[in-house]
Amino acid sequence: MTSFFVTRRLSVDLADGLPDGLQVAVFPHDRVPTEEEIAEGARDCSTLLTLVSDPVGSTLLDALPKLRHIAQVAVGYDNVDVEACRSREILVTHTPDVLTDATADLTWALLLAVARRIREGEALLRGGHFGGWSPTLLLGRELAGTTLGVFGFGRIGRAVARRARGFGMRVIYTSRSFAPTKVEEELRAERVSFEQLLEESDVLSIHAPLDEHTRARFGAAELKAMKRDAILLNTARGPIVDEGALAAALDEGELFGAGLDVFEHEPQVHPSLIARDDVVIVPHLGSATRAARARMAHTALRDAVRVAHGEPALHVIPELA
Ligand code: DGY
Repeated sequence: MTSFFVTRRLSVDLADGLPDGLQVAVFPHDRVPTEEEIAEGARDCSTLLTLVSDPVGSTLLDALPKLRHIAQVAVGYDNVDVEACRSREILVTHTPDVLTDATADLTWALLLAVARRIREGEALLRGGHFGGWSPTLLLGRELAGTTLGVFGFGRIGRAVARRARGFGMRVIYTSRSFAPTKVEEELRAERVSFEQLLEESDVLSIHAPLDEHTRARFGAAELKAMKRDAILLNTARGPIVDEGALAAALDEGELFGAGLDVFEHEPQVHPSLIARDDVVIVPHLGSATRAARARMAHTALRDAVRVAHGEPALHVIPELA
């Protein structure tokens, strides 16, 4: 019998409606499993459904000789050693599209919270320190007429840019390739150099995958090159930003603030960032809506079933497509 192993209980029951002949087993605890626990649970499985918190490398793959397919329940898959999979002829699929709007919305929630100092206002009020309306209380930043810079102009970057239009912002972006003219026109987005993105963005939002080109792309020099009152947002992957450099830049007053959903050493967060009032941090919630999480689970499962039935998968990662 073909079996799937899921490394965590998901928000939907994958056993529901699974075709005959297929079985799904789920890691029974609500925590990240160790490599040994995954190896043990998936020992006889052909498909492993993984999450962003599961490192999948050679040691694990060697412990799973029957494995043919990794169905990553996420759009990003930097936790998976793609070359190790390729050399073992293990297919890797992911879940693009289904979490685009959820992640763009969360990006926008962070932006508004930073720009309008929501965290500080809430703390002040809940702490019993609100003494009534004041002309100088917690003055924030307006967005209309400012420039949104998008680093990585794929599905999520474009969805964030689409929202910026409603806020009257100009949009610029960097990306390895040009977006189609139709998309640039629709979003009134202009492709610029990385240097221009740093210099001209009032809000700079990161939406690139983590790879050897983007790791630590935002370090001390890049943060210094940004506008002094800019806002940095990261809902992509933590290691794209050097957190120590970000904390130092904020200490030096080089930025207005930051909104972060992801962290360099997740789940740890740089202590200086936790302590700061001008940083809004949430625990990797980009795709955390009921609908998006259900779509992610079903998208991964659909490919798992297709592969098990010898049909081509729908969402093979680009490197293996
Ligand atoms: C992803 O899909 O890559 C997110 O980071 C987790 O939902």
